[in-house]
Amino acid sequence: MAKQKYIAVIDFGSQYSHLITRRLGELGIKTKLLTPQVNKNRLAKAAGLILSGGPQSVIKKPVPYNQQLLRLKLPILGVCYGLQLMARDFGGRVTGGKIREYGPANLKRHDQRNKLLTDWPKQSTVWMSHGDSVTKLPPGFITLGSTDTLRYAAVAHRHKPIFGVQFHPEVHHTPYGSILYQNFAFNICGLKPQKLTSKLKAIEAGIRRQVGEKKVFLLVSGGVDSTVALAVLNRTLGKRRVYGLHIDTGLLREQESRLVKRQLAAAGLTNLHVVGAAGAFWRRLRSITEPETKRQIIGATFLQIKAQVAKKLRLNTKSWLLGQGTIYPDTIESGGTKHADKIKTHHNRINVLAQLAARGLLVEPLKNLYKDEVRLIGAELGLPKELLWAHPFPGPGLAVRALCLDSSRLKQLNQIYVSKITVSKYNTRILPLLSVGVQGDERSYRHPLAIEAPYSKATSLHYQAAKLTNKDKNINRILLKLSGPNLNIGKIKVATLTPQRIKILRQADNIVTQELKQGNMYKNLWQCPTVLVPFGAKLGESIVLRPFASREAMTGRAYLLPQTVVRRIVRRLQALPAIDYIFYDLTDKPPGTVEWE
Ligand code: XMP
Repeated sequence: MAKQKYIAVIDFGSQYSHLITRRLGELGIKTKLLTPQVNKNRLAKAAGLILSGGPQSVIKKPVPYNQQLLRLKLPILGVCYGLQLMARDFGGRVTGGKIREYGPANLKRHDQRNKLLTDWPKQSTVWMSHGDSVTKLPPGFITLGSTDTLRYAAVAHRHKPIFGVQFHPEVHHTPYGSILYQNFAFNICGLKPQKLTSKLKAIEAGIRRQVGEKKVFLLVSGGVDSTVALAVLNRTLGKRRVYGLHIDTGLLREQESRLVKRQLAAAGLTNLHVVGAAGAFWRRLRSITEPETKRQIIGATFLQIKAQVAKKLRLNTKSWLLGQGTIYPDTIESGGTKHADKIKTHHNRINVLAQLAARGLLVEPLKNLYKDEVRLIGAELGLPKELLWAHPFPGPGLAVRALCLDSSRLKQLNQIYVSKITVSKYNTRILPLLSVGVQGDERSYRHPLAIEAPYSKATSLHYQAAKLTNKDKNINRILLKLSGPNLNIGKIKVATLTPQRIKILRQADNIVTQELKQGNMYKNLWQCPTVLVPFGAKLGESIVLRPFASREAMTGRAYLLPQTVVRRIVRRLQALPAIDYIFYDLTDKPPGTVEWE
């Protein structure tokens, strides 16, 4: 048995670096997430190194790192950027922009006997997210696997325990990924699995340690994360030491605040208080069109309302700590680690809150977990299934599902030259709209490509979607037009957040939710955002349906609903006032995020 005890994961800023530690943890392997400039003395007890992915390019702007890491005589696995870094520094070549892959790819394994891919099938789906790629192997390296477009998708040194993969074995959508980490940890690094410890117990101990004799003022949206946070805080501290505050922003779903209050009370979470604050949110948001500004303002308004309530209650700020139901994806998507890019600022990670969190002044018992883990904790706490399996809803609410456009951007978007992309015989158009995506660990803000084809072609178009977004740098989403006039006559228009637009969107969201439940589809989906976009033919706009399947939202797939359900949804949405087009979003994550902004 090896003397060393853990695997060091060197974090170059990938969205998935922390997910690597989770996967290894599930195998009973200890890890440490360390920065690239870590001193080698800190690695004395490491059994192996994993070099993570990251948003930077090793050929343009590499992250400074301790080059001794590659000479430590430890087994090394480079993932994505980590592979490219090794390829460059061991004497190979990395090229930018030639092969871009975001989302699914098909890996064909070459060498059956290599330890890294033991027990891997000859062909399998792997998940990619890169714009640079290795185009020449360093001396001494061989290829273990390739995709249709990428020769060096999995590589190894002929004699030394050094390996690299361009894909991400840590994400749920690489189905054999855990086997790769198992091979690396057990067969290559020689580690043995440790017994798994109870997460709930560790969370409770953490709360006791941090809160001491104080009390917690917890912001509760009523979604899975904040509800589980409330339940675990109540159990650890007792209800009297926890004040749950639900803020009705006016941007929630139909009847949501009432439902939250009722459901949580029925689950025994009676220390929840609701405050109406729609006016404050409207006042601050009404002229805002830029997505990140919306998100910052919403986060800040939550804090202002919380401060007003605390003042009214005369709470002594010295004895009350602020609490949130933050989970890990909120932090990493907000650019919350040293080398990570900001994909979008989650409402609970605006600057002031991120700073408080970094100083240990926020009580966030679930901050290192993903939503699927939170659901398990909730089940352990006895919370009802309908609460735990409710679709997630973002803190900024419908505000980030109603795209806005100001006149300067309108001009800019109208001027953009957009090429025509052919997809079989169908009419296509790159829409003069922008939405957020995540590509190669970076934020993208690009156009959707809309295709005019019957819904019966959705499966084949979904299959082609990744190829289309890989090929054309201008687009990060693929839409299928479900209804509306010819795409070519559609125009964008100036739009802000108005009560009328939010009302239409709320109705659309309600229709979609009802039909998903009626069609027995609700439980198959992670969530199904309904997005209002200012693109129309006459006076109207468009609705985009985003049915999405995932386990923890770090990666996921567009989900194809049965045609009958789609037909019913379209018929009811068409009856809403001022809806010209209805689209179906066929984009996986990456390249698209779940929400549009
Ligand atoms: P994206 O759009 O980033 O979303 O792929 C991943 C998951 O997070 C939800 N989401 C949020 N949740 N505050 C939240 O509590 C936010 O600001 C926020 N933004 C996105 C999103 O709905 C999806 O489930």
